[in-house]
Amino acid sequence: MPDLHVLTHPIAQVCLTQLRDQSTRPEQFRTAMQRLSALVFAEASSGISLQSIDVQTPIVATKGFKLARPVILVPILRAGLGMIDGILSLVPDAVVAHVGIARDEETAQPHSYYAKLPQVLASGEVFLLDPMLATGGSAVEAARQLKEAGVKNLRLVGIVACPQGIAAFQHAHPDVPIYTAAVDEGLNDRSYIVPGLGDAGDRYFGT
Ligand code: PRP
Ligand code: URA
Repeated sequence: MPDLHVLTHPIAQVCLTQLRDQSTRPEQFRTAMQRLSALVFAEASSGISLQSIDVQTPIVATKGFKLARPVILVPILRAGLGMIDGILSLVPDAVVAHVGIARDEETAQPHSYYAKLPQVLASGEVFLLDPMLATGGSAVEAARQLKEAGVKNLRLVGIVACPQGIAAFQHAHPDVPIYTAAVDEGLNDRSYIVPGLGDAGDRYFGT
């Protein structure tokens, strides 16, 4: 599929297995989520622009780089928050904006309840973060809000996707690449990903 990037790194697969395992304790789940988020983000950010700068080493003057544009992370509340700490270990200067979207438990339709989107969004490299791409409804709505706010460089970074969510997102936002650690089989009758990892927000926050 175009613009779908699935991480195959062995360490990513080990982290993913820990997340899937229902016996993984909450603190292990958090650590695995943060490590895996950093790995997927590293792949997703591999194409962002650099600016050349001068740097003085202890030996000689040479050339180096800094990021050309601000990096902006947009977690979809709540579960997207679980991806932040790992990613900030790579880009500690990143701006963090927030979008609050919850699925209706009966219909799985996205309900938008919060947004804090700074003006810098329009000039930055924006990463929409949500570990689960199930029906795709939440990510489709979040990306719509970001585009309405002026975002141009947008990528979706997740942990587990499935064919239904990928199709829905690519149909709505064919210009936005998707980065994920897994593409699972599909959805069950409650619109949970199979085999998946359960409810990402509940497992990360211990609710
Ligand atoms: C979960 C998950 C995604 C969404 C994915 O959020 O974190 O945001 O479902 O499902 P979709 O692709 O079918 O929209 P949920 O609504 O359970 O909220 P939470 O993160 O607060 O638990
Ligand atoms: N949200 C989750 O947290 N898990 C799923 O499998 C689907 C939606």
